[in-house]
Amino acid sequence: SGKKPWGGRFKESTDKLVEEFTESVSYDKRLAPFDIAGSIAHVKMLEKQGILKKEEAEKVVSGLREILDEIERGEFVWKTELEDVHMNVEKRLTEKIGAVGGKLHTGRSRNDQVATDVRLYVRHEIEEILELLKALRRAFVKQAEENLDVVMPGYTHLQIAQPVLYSHHMLAYYQMFKRDAERFKDTLKRVNVSPLGSAALAGTSYPLDREFTAELLGFDGVTRNSMDAVSDRDFVAETIFNCAMVMMHLSRLSEELVLWSTEEFGFIELPDAFCTGSSIMPQKKNPDVSELTRGKTGRVYGDLIAILTVLKGLPLTYNRDLQEDKEPLFDAIDTVKMALRVNEKIVSGMKPRKERMREQAKKGFSLATDVADYLAKKGVPFREAHEIVGKVVAYCLDNGKTLEDLTLEEFRKFSDKFEEDVLSLMSVEGSINSRNIVGGTAREQVEQEIRRIKEEEGF
Ligand code: ARG
Repeated sequence: SGKKPWGGRFKESTDKLVEEFTESVSYDKRLAPFDIAGSIAHVKMLEKQGILKKEEAEKVVSGLREILDEIERGEFVWKTELEDVHMNVEKRLTEKIGAVGGKLHTGRSRNDQVATDVRLYVRHEIEEILELLKALRRAFVKQAEENLDVVMPGYTHLQIAQPVLYSHHMLAYYQMFKRDAERFKDTLKRVNVSPLGSAALAGTSYPLDREFTAELLGFDGVTRNSMDAVSDRDFVAETIFNCAMVMMHLSRLSEELVLWSTEEFGFIELPDAFCTGSSIMPQKKNPDVSELTRGKTGRVYGDLIAILTVLKGLPLTYNRDLQEDKEPLFDAIDTVKMALRVNEKIVSGMKPRKERMREQAKKGFSLATDVADYLAKKGVPFREAHEIVGKVVAYCLDNGKTLEDLTLEEFRKFSDKFEEDVLSLMSVEGSINSRNIVGGTAREQVEQEIRRIKEEEGF
């Protein structure tokens, strides 16, 4: 099994099974670029502090750079018996530059090293997720802008409630993904702090300049307690939570797209390139991407529960359990990135079926609230108006009529407050445009909101 970097106090070599059980290099090798960046900053600081000589530091830095090249070219040989990314890189360094490579780890432990690597990785990934979230938001705004004339039923309890603009519905999703972005940005504040200098758990006796390494690595500051710094994975849990929240939003979107693309709803046409067929039924066009998005949400929730459970009950400070932070983190991030990419394409490519939506917008007595409001504006207390219109609806149901079918005489059977103008109330557009309040569905409001968003986002 070869000599371990920690092999000094051991008489027997590690059991093969233990090597397999404890290794993390098979997945944490993705941290290599961050591990090497962290090491280079650490070495430069050691040199500045006079702990390493200039020639020594230069050797280490160029050795590390060569290793990064080897990794990027796919030439690097990862060894399971070297446990993790950190020891693989360090071992290779001493292979390349000799004993001086051993000075890299001065005043450092894998405990503050891995915390640093994961923070740098998470920061990098959050930046990418923010870009993807923005692209998705742009797609919703574009749908909203290009389809301002599309009306549809708005639902509560999945029962037709009141007519709304399709654009208003699109902008509802915009809001969700805007909040998600804000959450990630807020998390970034707690991610972007340097643990280097915390060493194993207690700090170090070497005169390290923690602020200097932090600055080289683009951290906003340094952690304030070495024990907390090596055992804190709050930022991992938070990041996975943020991913879970994005997935939950995407899953709600997916559910609507699945419903809307059914024969029964018929509200949208999904882009062919983002649907799949059936191996037996030639007519089928299935919304598998939306279904998988909904399904993968479960995985990411699993990742969140996994990290919270790993952390629960851990005594201070570092425990090897913490190595189990990585797979849920990587899985959540990979899944959310893929899901954002593919859903951005779906949202950009979907086409509302305008006629069908309009037809449905009138159904289910969706203008009943407008009729009640009409009476209320004529002085009838709203509760009474509600009761009257409820009776009008019951009358329609008994006689197979819709509200638009009713004559003024029929209306007046229920209240003498009804006048000629109630008949002109029976328009979906009229109903929508009457909700002219900030955050409401009136076209004027929605147009204004689109302008505000475009200005704010620079779309
Ligand atoms: N692979 C380890 C992890 O991810 C690195 C830190 C190991 N430290 C230790 N003392 N065994 O947590």
